[in-house]
Amino acid sequence: MSPQERIAFLRKELNHHNHNYYVLDQPTISDFEFDKLLEELIFLETQHPEFFDAQSPSQRVGGTITKKFETVVHKYPMRSLGNSYSKEELEEFIQRVTKDLDEPATFTCELKYDGVAIGIVYEKGVLVRAVTRGDGTAGDDITANVKTIKSIPLILQETGFPDLFEIRGEIFMPLERFQQLNQSRVEEGQEPFANPRNCASGTLKMQDSAEVAKRHLDSYLYYVLSEAPLADGHMERITQAGQWGFKVPQASQRFIAQANNLDEILAFIDYWNEARSTLPFEIDGVVVKVNSIEQQEQLGYTAKSPRWAIAYKFQAEQAITQLETVTYQVGRTGAITPVANLTPVLLAGTTVKRASLHNADQIGRLDLHLMDWVYVEKGGEIIPKVVGVDVKRREPTAQPVIFPEHCPECGSGLMRLEGEAQHFCPNETGCPPQIKGKIAHFISRKALNIDGLGAETIEQLYSVGLIQTAADLYDLTFEQLLPLERFAEKSAQNVIAGIAASKDIPFERVLFGLGIRHVGETVAKKLARHFGSIEALQAANLEALLAVDEIGNRIAESILDYFANANLMQQLNRLKAAGLQMETHQKANSLQQILVGKTFVVSGKFEGYERDALKSLIENLGGKVASSISKKTDYVVAGADMGPSKKQKAEEFGVEILSEAAFNLLIEGGLS
Ligand code: IVH
Repeated sequence: MSPQERIAFLRKELNHHNHNYYVLDQPTISDFEFDKLLEELIFLETQHPEFFDAQSPSQRVGGTITKKFETVVHKYPMRSLGNSYSKEELEEFIQRVTKDLDEPATFTCELKYDGVAIGIVYEKGVLVRAVTRGDGTAGDDITANVKTIKSIPLILQETGFPDLFEIRGEIFMPLERFQQLNQSRVEEGQEPFANPRNCASGTLKMQDSAEVAKRHLDSYLYYVLSEAPLADGHMERITQAGQWGFKVPQASQRFIAQANNLDEILAFIDYWNEARSTLPFEIDGVVVKVNSIEQQEQLGYTAKSPRWAIAYKFQAEQAITQLETVTYQVGRTGAITPVANLTPVLLAGTTVKRASLHNADQIGRLDLHLMDWVYVEKGGEIIPKVVGVDVKRREPTAQPVIFPEHCPECGSGLMRLEGEAQHFCPNETGCPPQIKGKIAHFISRKALNIDGLGAETIEQLYSVGLIQTAADLYDLTFEQLLPLERFAEKSAQNVIAGIAASKDIPFERVLFGLGIRHVGETVAKKLARHFGSIEALQAANLEALLAVDEIGNRIAESILDYFANANLMQQLNRLKAAGLQMETHQKANSLQQILVGKTFVVSGKFEGYERDALKSLIENLGGKVASSISKKTDYVVAGADMGPSKKQKAEEFGVEILSEAAFNLLIEGGLS
């Protein structure tokens, strides 16, 4: 088999297994076997860039950076649905429909997926464009991001689809992924997403499709539009789309069903109102559609929505209970979160004792009093929230909840920055939960990853007075640990060895570990690559910080505050003295400035480099990196999937295109 044939074979094979796994949920090979095939394909594609194909399953990992999403006008307007909330409103809908039609209608009931609406265009079986709803007339072109969603086919395998059609549906974040993501965001001191829908929508707006790929979005598609003739029935069209390879609602799972009258529709609604909590994703209702396309056309549209369909919205799952006390949690960054402690109540299958009150404004909006009867609601959030108060049941003597002026843990005066909803305790270096939280963050897996140490040990070492800051870890001795409870010779040795090993952790992770407010993992990486060392970062003024990609005022000011804090600087100096990595390697080796005066554009995906790392390497060698090709560009470094338009542009301006291998040769040999 020639490499070209093998590539074609592997692509077909991988598409088939992708479909089995992500659409049908019936894999026929193991993950390991799948990864091996994918690995081989990626290898062959790098060896043979001439066979590049934007639809190849290797492209699922993303890598395209979109600076600004283009606005695209929808060929067919993207309408929304009329809403109903009661049996009566549904009954009115059915009566209206029946009155306007000559024949009785059959209805199709579907789940109302709570995600982001998408319209995807296929030409000759190839995904060409994916556009958000936007204002209904025009939306954002988010093709690169949508292509990372594995349940959405890049190429249709089967036959029978029209040459040109659009398929619409919903992209969502599965609940399990959502909870994992929020958990790690909280651990990293980032704001968690409010619910899975916001999370899906935020993810689809990310500029780096490789980041989108890591979030594992999913989809259900439920509507085909084409000039070409299709089956005359909504349900039948969905079945057709399923045969073409799309993930569509399955009747066998009761995600879609036909109904002939109100009672049958209500049976579907009642079933899902109960069963929704068992679904691995969120729904916010049911959609009822007239099944016949001919009848749909007869009924037509109002200005905003079809007359042939209606959404029935579920009540959010709520419970009512009594507010006993409000406590205030202090996070590692000092953020204060008010928490309602409730009389335990059953909600969506779990007992709820605590609910979030978010911030002072939320308490104000609710005009919350102690012993109030409160409504709690569960979305996809980690903990439920208080959404309302039954004021009629309030005792006249009830005391209003007053947000504290001082930190409940250390007594410092609380602060609130302009434009921010959260109060925080400014006593970064003296407030116990902040001290412990910061050390726990410092040792966490994505930061210094110190083996043998966990939150409990930190608590213990802090309580016996051995550590006050992360820097104290580096003064700990075996002899100090050994006599402590829960320590034996082996575990004490492990801790000391783990601490020593952390001195080799790269600078970007040390920077993340410092726990500067708003400097999460990604920001730390960016800063480390841009500035190269803690000294250079410390020397940067506001302007220099704002010049870094994606660093805004909030982050820049927090960095300046950090370096202005004498106490924190003393700790930082001790960490430096302990021998932690305080600069990136490229800078440390002080590479020769062999690329001075040369401007590069970097495009595509690389074998040996993350794209950002390649860019900083060029910069560290004295070169300039530009974002688009112009006559000033000297070289384009082309990764595996550089698009044809970039290639054309490079040729137009007579810019030399370097493969990754050619680039490596160039920097090894110096510029000749
Ligand atoms: S049909 C012209 N079916 O709900 C009718 N929409 O509130 C097109 N949605 O914009 C929509 N699940 O984003 C339809 N099974 C479903 C749906 C659904 C969720 C969303 C869709 C739409 C919004 C309207």
